[in-house]
Amino acid sequence: MSPSRFEPVRLEHASRLINHGPTVLVTSAHGGRRNLMAAAWSMPVEFTPPRIAVVIDKSTFTRELVSASGAFGLCLPGLALADLTYSVGQRSGRDGDKFERYGIEAVTGPVLGMPLVERGCAAWLECRLIPERHTEDAYDTCFAEVVAAAADPRIFANGHWLFDEDNADLQTIHHLGAGLFVRSAGAVQAQAL
Ligand SMILES: Cc1cc2nc3c(=O)[nH]c(=O)nc-3n(C[C@H](O)[C@H](O)[C@H](O)COP(=O)(O)O)c2cc1C
Repeated sequence: MSPSRFEPVRLEHASRLINHGPTVLVTSAHGGRRNLMAAAWSMPVEFTPPRIAVVIDKSTFTRELVSASGAFGLCLPGLALADLTYSVGQRSGRDGDKFERYGIEAVTGPVLGMPLVERGCAAWLECRLIPERHTEDAYDTCFAEVVAAAADPRIFANGHWLFDEDNADLQTIHHLGAGLFVRSAGAVQAQAL
């Protein structure tokens, strides 16, 4: 695996990485196997310690690996990875290593050793599963604590997103359904009335 090219994101800013509901790549590894899948349904649930929730269906290979290792990564693909994101959400890693199949390079997560995608991604979060049997069984919703986060400084720096016309390829993508995405552009600073 290659060394990280991202810059660390302070954990108190981790929620900002997924506040706007980007589609993520959930990465996982256990027992010599590794995997990644697309997930549109993730969100922050606590600032400090930073906690998140993500829906990982029990039929997925990802869920099997996450349950076994107690860890996963959330990587935020940019616009240039829309086809890849859609593709890794269409087939299961049980049928072969999707990193190899799609030529995806991984870096090693600094705390939990998760495979993380940087090339073409805006940011990643390394997450430790908080076992919650009921929500996992009933709703496929997995809670986790974010233990490390990092971002490409061209699009997220000093705790803030920088969406502009120069970094469209790195802008996060949001799933509208059936493979149609919109990118996150057009930020507006609100003022309290
Ligand atoms: C854009 C997109 C978003 C998706 N969002 C989710 C999601 O939030 N949760 C989920 O369990 N599956 C979601 N899926 C489906 C999984 O990515 C899919 O079942 C995948 O093949 C599972 O791979 P695996 O068996 O290798 O883990 C999504 C698929 C796509 C294409």
